[in-house]
Amino acid sequence: MSDSVTTGAVTNRPVVLLGYGGHARVVLDTLRALGAEVAGILAPDLPVGDRWEGIPVLGDDDWTRRPEAIQYHYSLGVGMLPQRPHLRQRLFSLLRERQLRMPPLVHPSAVLAPDVVLGEGTQVMAGVIVQPGSVIGENVLLNTRATVDHHCRIDAHVHVGPGAILCGEVQLGERVFVGAGATLIQGIDIGAGAQVAAGATVVRNIAAGIRHIPGHLPIRIEEA
Ligand SMILES: CC(C)(COP(=O)(O)OP(=O)(O)OC[C@H]1O[C@@H](n2cnc3c(N)ncnc32)[C@H](O)[C@@H]1OP(=O)(O)O)[C@@H](O)C(=O)NCCC(=O)NCCS
Repeated sequence: MSDSVTTGAVTNRPVVLLGYGGHARVVLDTLRALGAEVAGILAPDLPVGDRWEGIPVLGDDDWTRRPEAIQYHYSLGVGMLPQRPHLRQRLFSLLRERQLRMPPLVHPSAVLAPDVVLGEGTQVMAGVIVQPGSVIGENVLLNTRATVDHHCRIDAHVHVGPGAILCGEVQLGERVFVGAGATLIQGIDIGAGAQVAAGATVVRNIAAGIRHIPGHLPIRIEEA
């Protein structure tokens, strides 16, 4: 179920957005910039029928069990932070289990080389650049103005924070978090679930499950 998409409309079906926080607002703007129709939001703690940014609240995640749910496409309005590394992955898996589609979302201002591969549900926000030969897995979030240089491999559920720079041939394992403005030099390999602090310059590989903060010893991340 993966797509390779570099430009154009995200979807030919109405979209349902999950969440209504800050990231949801940015995703909503991106969907609107792409001309997509946003049919409603799913929010666990808003009354059904209320409106958020002019869009009706349809219900909570259980709404996706309804037979008509299959007629829509979906976008996650939930980001991924070091303190909550699994929520976005859980929602993605839930939609996947219910065989609901999350086409990749690419802001019109993003620049992607024609051969770049994007996985299901991956979100490429405003100002992002992705250079040739890069393969971006499922449910990845490339946040505002991040750059991904040539031949990078980014596995599922990764968040590359705003303004972060990945030089060529960088590899990020599943669920890696790269903080805003961090720079990873060419060829760096970051193991699954590792986290890079905002603003860090990374010149050595980082093992799976490690939090890297400049000037500090590696910290093993406790599972939430
Ligand atoms: C790395 C990070 C997850 C650490 O969070 P934390 O474990 O709660 O860390 P703390 O705030 O307790 O700080 C621990 C130490 O690391 C230092 N530190 C924390 N973040 C740092 C950073 N980005 N750069 C340099 N030092 C940092 C703190 O000053 C503190 O130092 P001290 O022990 O000498 O006093 C967090 O600071 C960070 O960088 N988050 C990324 C934010 C981001 O990019 N958000 C994008 C949202 S779209």
